[in-house]
Amino acid sequence: MKIKSQLNQIIKDALDSANIETKEDISVSDATKPEFGDYQFNGAMKLARTLRRNPREIASDIIKEINTTTLISKVEVAGAGFINIWIDNSWLSKELTKIIDDKRVGVGVVADKKRIVVDYSGPNMAKQMHVGHLRSTIIGDTLANLFRFLGHDVIPQNHIGDWGTQFGMLIAYLEELEEDNNRQNLQDLEQFYKDAKVRFDKSQKFKDKAREYVVKIQQGDSHCLKLWREFIDISLGHCEEVYSKLGVKLTKDDVRAESFYNPMLPKVIDTLKDRGMLVESNGAKCVFLENSNTPVIVQKSDGGYLYATTDLAGLWFRANELKVDRVSYVVDARQSEHFKQIFTIAKRANMVPDNVKLEHIAFGTMMDKSGRPFKTRDGGTVKLIDLLDEAVLRAKETIKDRDSYSDSKDLDRVAKAIGIGAVKYADLSINRESNYLFSWDKMLSFDGNTALYMQYAYARIASIFRKYNQELNGKIVISDELEHRLGLMILKFEDTLLKASEDGYPHIITSYLYDLVTLFMKFYENNPILKDNIDRDTQISRLLLSKLTANTIKKGLEILGIEVVDKI
Ligand code: ARG
Repeated sequence: MKIKSQLNQIIKDALDSANIETKEDISVSDATKPEFGDYQFNGAMKLARTLRRNPREIASDIIKEINTTTLISKVEVAGAGFINIWIDNSWLSKELTKIIDDKRVGVGVVADKKRIVVDYSGPNMAKQMHVGHLRSTIIGDTLANLFRFLGHDVIPQNHIGDWGTQFGMLIAYLEELEEDNNRQNLQDLEQFYKDAKVRFDKSQKFKDKAREYVVKIQQGDSHCLKLWREFIDISLGHCEEVYSKLGVKLTKDDVRAESFYNPMLPKVIDTLKDRGMLVESNGAKCVFLENSNTPVIVQKSDGGYLYATTDLAGLWFRANELKVDRVSYVVDARQSEHFKQIFTIAKRANMVPDNVKLEHIAFGTMMDKSGRPFKTRDGGTVKLIDLLDEAVLRAKETIKDRDSYSDSKDLDRVAKAIGIGAVKYADLSINRESNYLFSWDKMLSFDGNTALYMQYAYARIASIFRKYNQELNGKIVISDELEHRLGLMILKFEDTLLKASEDGYPHIITSYLYDLVTLFMKFYENNPILKDNIDRDTQISRLLLSKLTANTIKKGLEILGIEVVDKI
């Protein structure tokens, strides 16, 4: 249910009726304390400045024009000129009853459907996938789910790094192993890279061959291309293993690798030249931007292209071939300057129309408990697969002594949902721009803002229904303060998702779920459901509120890519 826009409209109409003209942004916000009502409008204070009038007077002029019939039960002027707004209980009861069996828990589909590319994951094929790509994969997949659920047309793009000088060395080494029939080495890519590098550093002959192979791939030599494709397949296969463990929906079809854009690169240079944006500097072709001391190099003096050139081609392709309205790049915050630059260049060169929204969904670094970038005990990079396996093992440890598991298959399934859910939720629940402290204990706790807290609440509601075990027909009647707050929270789901999708902030959803579950726990403590002495209508109403809470948790977690289970 979209509540905020309805309230904003009511305020706007009231302003009109009160003959108060305004160019300001008229919007309500969530009240910060229950005694301030459900929503607050603080526009009277802003208006007071331009109108040179007393803000409380303006506020009381506005509330005189507000009808308290359906949506709103009460409005009040408070403090320096705030307007406090209460939502009506019969309205809540009616709207909640309407969505009891709604699969979308009351969330509509957007009217202005957009085509959105979400560029995420983007591992480099010449390296093992590392924790930085974990964040991109988790956040990106959530945003893709969110946009899709809201009704947008989503095109996931996995911009894998499959091009560059390192591949000469890697395929030359692959060829050697194949000659020796020794391919099992590729089980462990990390080791493969290390061994290839050792070989490269030791043997001049190998080094020359590696260099020769770089040129050959670029020239399209079929033998080298074949080896290169084989190597990419193996490397991508390792990434797919991670995706599948994570339950991430990226597939081969979503891969549009750096190499895909190679044929378009000369055109990027030509376009920039035609627009008069290209400057030669020491033989390299560059674009100079104001506010930046270092130019963006798009072609090196030896003719080679760069990461930025490929991304410019990507922008051109997405805007003109995929015809998108928005491109969301889910990439490490350390690339902020790069994206600022290529967005500016692409728009200035008319490679991307002005109305296409380009955004860098930046995220911070993953840190260990001591605040250092995440590493293994011996200082190496942590392999993603190992990390995910450990999550599931630890989840199993956390829950194995509970008596809910009839067999070990059950336990495995639940441990997987909890372990993977914990890793994802921990990542999504902080503001993505912050660095993120990785802590097993914190992410696998039953209390606090964790996946397990939400999954546990869901399982608890499922157990209420197992005990109740009867048809559930009737309606929701909101009858006290806790039910009011819980019911309103459920209806705020749509506003929350819309807000999260504006600038791509998943933590807006997790904060919401945390508030929802915390409210539910209070409600559940104070409003008994299965006791004998409760009248039938009250019982049904409370059961239905619980059911809606469970549906909302489930849908919310589903958007975050996290599974629920019926028993924990
Ligand atoms: N491969 C890049 C890296 O590991 C990420 C790619 C992000 N996407 C993009 N279009 N630049 O840093």
